[in-house]
Amino acid sequence: MWKPDRSSKKPMYQQIAEHVERSIHLGEYPPGSILPSERRLAERMGVNRSTVVQAYEDLRSKGIVESSVGSGTRVSRGVWKHRPGLSPNWRDYVQGGTFAQSLPYLRRIREVLQERPAVINFASGELSADLFPNEQIQRLMREVPFEAHLGYDDPQGYYPLRETLVGFMRQELGIHTTESSVLITSGSQQSLFLILQCLLAPGDAVAVEDPSYCCSLSMFQSAGLRIFPLPVHEDGIDPEDVGTLFRKHRIKMVFLNPNYQNPTGTTLHPDKRLPLLNLAAELGIPIVEDDPFSLTDFEGTPPPSLKSIDEHGTVLYIGSLSKIAASGLRIGWLIAPNSVVQRLADARQQIDFGLSVLPQWTANAFMRTGMLAEHLVFLRQALARKQELLIRSLEEELSGEVQYTAARGGLNLWCSLVRPADDLKLLEESVKRGVIYTPGAVYGSGPGFLRLSFARPPEGTVADGVKGIAQALRALHL
Ligand SMILES: Cc1ncc(COP(=O)(O)O)c(C=O)c1O
Repeated sequence: MWKPDRSSKKPMYQQIAEHVERSIHLGEYPPGSILPSERRLAERMGVNRSTVVQAYEDLRSKGIVESSVGSGTRVSRGVWKHRPGLSPNWRDYVQGGTFAQSLPYLRRIREVLQERPAVINFASGELSADLFPNEQIQRLMREVPFEAHLGYDDPQGYYPLRETLVGFMRQELGIHTTESSVLITSGSQQSLFLILQCLLAPGDAVAVEDPSYCCSLSMFQSAGLRIFPLPVHEDGIDPEDVGTLFRKHRIKMVFLNPNYQNPTGTTLHPDKRLPLLNLAAELGIPIVEDDPFSLTDFEGTPPPSLKSIDEHGTVLYIGSLSKIAASGLRIGWLIAPNSVVQRLADARQQIDFGLSVLPQWTANAFMRTGMLAEHLVFLRQALARKQELLIRSLEEELSGEVQYTAARGGLNLWCSLVRPADDLKLLEESVKRGVIYTPGAVYGSGPGFLRLSFARPPEGTVADGVKGIAQALRALHL
C-alpha cells in the first residue's frame, strides 16, 4: 500500500493528491466513481484527516474531482478527456465490450455499502452474519479429514457433493435426480448465466416474471435477449399469459421463482403448477425454476417445487446454499437433462476449469453430516422472528403509509408506499439517515415500491433503520 514519504520536501497533501491523480489516470477510479472518504484514506495512509482534506481540495481546484454534500468526493465525469501522455484510453475500453454494466441503482447501493460499512442494510438479499453457520463450518474444517485432491476437478462438480445433493434434494424437496444430471456452480447467478450463454442466442425471446430478480440482471441484456414480462399476481403468474407470449413472440424459455419470489415474496398457487407444466411441455419450452428460498419456508413445508412434479422433463432447476447457509460459500447447483449438464460443464471448462474444490468439499461435509438440516431448523425460526420485528417497526413508524403482505418464507418484505415519493430522492434521503434498501424499480416495478431484506440487518438495528426511512419519507412529503 502506497504511503506518503515523510522525509520528502514535497508536502504530504501534494504527494497524496498526485498519487490519487495517478490512480485515476491508471483507471483505478473511473469517472463518476466515489473516492475513499477522507477519514478512510487518512487511516490507510497514516496521516491526519486534514491532510487528505487538503489533497482533495487540490484535486477539486484542478477539476479532477468534485464533491457534493452527502455523497462524498467523486472523480469528475470528464476526467478522461484530459488524460495525459500515451496511456491507453481506458474509457473506450471500459465502455466497450459486450457485457452491460449493472443497473445504476445497484451500482449506487454497492458504492454506499463500500463507503459506509455501518449503514443499516435492508438492501442485500442475504443472511446477517449471526445466521451463517460459522461454528459448524469451523468445526468440520477442524474435525473432518479433507477428502478431495487438489488438482483440476471435474467441471461438472465434485462427485461426492453431487452424490450428497441427490440424497438431499430427494429428502428435503422430493426432487428425484441422479449425479449425472447435477451441475455444481458458484451459485444461482452462475447457473442463470450459463443457461443464458449456452442455451439461448441473441435475439431470442424469453419470458420473465414482472417484477422479478431477473429484471435486475443486466446479463439478460448482455446476452441480447428480448425480454417479455409475465405479471406476478398475489398467487403468482397466470399460465395463460405464457401461452399468449408464446403465440405473440415465440418465447423460447420461461424464468420463474415460484416459491417466495424475489422481490414480491409471493408463491405460485399450487393449483397453477400442473397446468403450467403441461402447457410448457405442449409448447416445447423449458421452464427455469430458480428456487433459492423453498428451504427457508418458516414452517418447513414449502409448496412442491415444479421440478418435483415435472413429468415431462421441462424444468431446469436451480438451487443454492446462499440463502439457506452462507452466500460467501458460492455454491449452487443446476438439475437438468444430462445433455444440458454436459453442454454447460463444457462451458465451465472453458471459463475457469470449474469451481474450486475447497467450497465444494466444505458444502459436501456440511450437508452429509446433517449440519445443514439442523441449521435449517434454527434459520427458519430466526427468519420468521426477523420478519415479525420488521413488521412491528413498520407498524410503529409508518402505519397507514406503507402496505405489504407478510411472506411465509424467503428473506424479503415487498412494500408499497401509499403516497409514493420520488424513488431516487427517497433512497438518497434514507442514505443520509444511515439506511439503505433496494428500490422496487430495480426489479422492473413502477415507482413507490421498496424491497426490504429483513434477513440482512442485525435485529438490534431494524427499528432504527425503519425510523430512518420514515424520516426520509416525511422530509420528502413536507
Ligand atoms: C431469485 C434469485 N436468484 C438467484 C440469486 C443469486 O443467488 P446466488 O448467491 O446463489 O448466486 C438471487 C440472489 O439474491 C435471487 O434472489
